[in-house]
Amino acid sequence: MLSSLPLHLLFNSVIFTNLQANDYVVVPTMEDWLSGAKYNTSSFVGFSSGKADAVGALFDPYRPNLTDTSGDLPRYKNVSTELCLSQYNVQYTTLVGNVYIVQSQPTVWRNQTLWKLAVHNITGDFVWYTGSPPNPENYKWQNANTTFPYRSRPETVPSNGWRCPSRRNSTCNVEDEREVPSDKSKWAPYESPVRYCLVEQVPEICKLQFSFIIASVVIVSNLIKAGCIAWLLLRYKKHEALVTLGDAVASFLECVDLTTRGRCLQSKAEVERHFNGNTLARIDHMPDRVLKPQRFEPIRQKWSMAPSYGTWFAAYMFYFGAVLFGILAIIWSLDGMPSGLAKLWKVGFGSVNGKNLLSIGTSLMGSVLLANTPQVILSYLYITFNTLYTNMFIAREWATYLNQRKTLRVTAPIGQQRETYWLSVPFRFAIPMTILSGVFHWLASQSLFMVQITVTVWKSTGRVISVTDSISTCGFSPVAIILTTVIATAIAVGGIIMGRLKYPAGMPMAGSLSAAISAACHPSEEDIDAHLRPVQWGAVSHGLEFSGGNEPVGHCSFSSLPVELPITGRLYA
Ligand SMILES: *[C@@H]1O[C@H](CO)[C@@H](O)[C@H](O)[C@H]1NC(C)=O
Ligand SMILES: *[C@@H]1O[C@H](CO)[C@@H](O)[C@H](O)[C@H]1NC(C)=O
Ligand SMILES: *[C@@H]1O[C@H](CO)[C@@H](O)[C@H](O)[C@H]1NC(C)=O
Ligand SMILES: *[C@@H]1O[C@H](CO)[C@@H](O)[C@H](O)[C@H]1NC(C)=O
Ligand SMILES: *[C@@H]1O[C@H](CO)[C@@H](O)[C@H](O)[C@H]1NC(C)=O
Ligand SMILES: *[C@@H]1O[C@H](CO)[C@@H](O)[C@H](O)[C@H]1NC(C)=O
Ligand SMILES: *[C@@H]1O[C@H](CO)[C@@H](O)[C@H](O)[C@H]1NC(C)=O
Repeated sequence: MLSSLPLHLLFNSVIFTNLQANDYVVVPTMEDWLSGAKYNTSSFVGFSSGKADAVGALFDPYRPNLTDTSGDLPRYKNVSTELCLSQYNVQYTTLVGNVYIVQSQPTVWRNQTLWKLAVHNITGDFVWYTGSPPNPENYKWQNANTTFPYRSRPETVPSNGWRCPSRRNSTCNVEDEREVPSDKSKWAPYESPVRYCLVEQVPEICKLQFSFIIASVVIVSNLIKAGCIAWLLLRYKKHEALVTLGDAVASFLECVDLTTRGRCLQSKAEVERHFNGNTLARIDHMPDRVLKPQRFEPIRQKWSMAPSYGTWFAAYMFYFGAVLFGILAIIWSLDGMPSGLAKLWKVGFGSVNGKNLLSIGTSLMGSVLLANTPQVILSYLYITFNTLYTNMFIAREWATYLNQRKTLRVTAPIGQQRETYWLSVPFRFAIPMTILSGVFHWLASQSLFMVQITVTVWKSTGRVISVTDSISTCGFSPVAIILTTVIATAIAVGGIIMGRLKYPAGMPMAGSLSAAISAACHPSEEDIDAHLRPVQWGAVSHGLEFSGGNEPVGHCSFSSLPVELPITGRLYA
């Protein structure tokens, strides 16, 4: 289990998303500026003389070189107003960079020290005012502090708030007609009609990233694991496998375990009580004295009796811990997400929209480990539940030997023995369980996943990758977290429902306790090579009546000879 830890911790991140996000500048301007004229500041409001020109000069470093043909594509492209609005409708732009909004009138820009934005508390209308607010009761003062020129950074959410003329800095809803008219060609983000946009075209750098280091670590730990398995195989080549219930029964029928003689009706619980590693030696020395024959009383045991209390406790503690964590994660991840299932579904699995990224930037390794923590938790959750279910299925297989004579299912069949199931559980249970486990892990990998964002910045000569701005973080998907929690709950509830089923009455419950299994494998002397033939569990003798006035004591065992149902109330040893 420990050797799997590096795999669980890393495997989900061998291939991860690398998003490109362009840091861009928004330049509202007039056509003459593009070809070298001075920025027209005639509509700037509230600036003292000379100051306006200084603000206008801030745009000069971003003047596009319209004749730049250095790349495969023309660097700047003329697009319509509608297209311009929709191309920037994403948090992370990959194909477009700087946007030059070419207007027919000069840009309107207010000195923000003098001008404030007021938003009506009911209608949402907004007005700019200077001096005292228009109607202080109904209008709420808003922070409208945006930089000019506007630099859109991928790490600010939303990065495309510049499209709304109100400059309410936290939100920008372009479907709101007060911000953008439904006829998108009338869009006027800087209070002047837009003629067209000139957008910078950016070549796409990368999409999926394959991490060589992580892949190497995964391969090396796989090799080590394979090496250990190979070594064990070679070292214990002659050793018989003792994997399944059939293996255990076959082995105990072949070599009868004398230490468990005379306990043929003892169940797992009783064997555990009287017979453990510490008392083994003592009992060995005084074999029969501490043993009393038991009365046969068929009880229908619940399936839940098969796994030990420890297994139940571990599985459900793990489950409650994980679900608590999952519910907290759901509440937290839904914050800022669209409400309504359909919209949430659209956020999708493993995709990034800007709102579903953790705000912490970490190192590459940090986000790898973070992204895989749920995998580790869920792997161990799955292992504990797998143990629980497998125990119940083993006990179920055990109980079928009461009514049916059949050959044993073993790892390496000889004689009439049958081959074991692939996963020690019948296929009709194993296949759904395997599919469920696959879906579970896939959903978990989509719940929290690693994302790397490569940020490019504009330079007059071309785009460059900014190493300092690149972000390593984790994305999350609320739908995937919800579904993972639902499936974990289904697995847990399934355990409780199955625990309420009952085994047929009769055989003592052995679970997967080898001492209890061996106690049921004491065939009679003449039953040679029972393990190679079809066997059934039952009374091989009911004891002799009137044997010196004592009560008759029978014997039960797995046997290839005919057996009978033990008689209720009679003693067996
Ligand atoms: C600025 O634009 C206005 C309106 O189009 C125009 O009248 C004015 O001459 C322009 N100023 C400069 C300096 O180009
Ligand atoms: C904005 O207005 C204030 C107050 O009149 C003034 O002090 C400041 O210089 C103005 N800012 C600019 C950039 O002109
Ligand atoms: C514009 O780009 C062209 C071609 O790449 C180059 O020859 C020219 O010098 C650039 N002009 C400026 C002003 O940078
Ligand atoms: C862009 O297109 C508009 C109209 O479609 C045209 O007037 C303008 O000259 C074009 N600008 C450039 C730089 O190609
Ligand atoms: C809007 O402002 C008015 C006047 O102050 C107040 O009575 C009303 O409750 C406010 N409405 C909301 C939704 O805040
Ligand atoms: C806008 O930002 C500047 C500098 O960051 C700050 O001095 C000013 O107080 C801010 N104005 C508002 C209205 O928040
Ligand atoms: C909005 O304004 C607040 C307060 O000035 C500031 O902390 C925040 O960064 C601003 N958000 C954006 C997107 O500019």
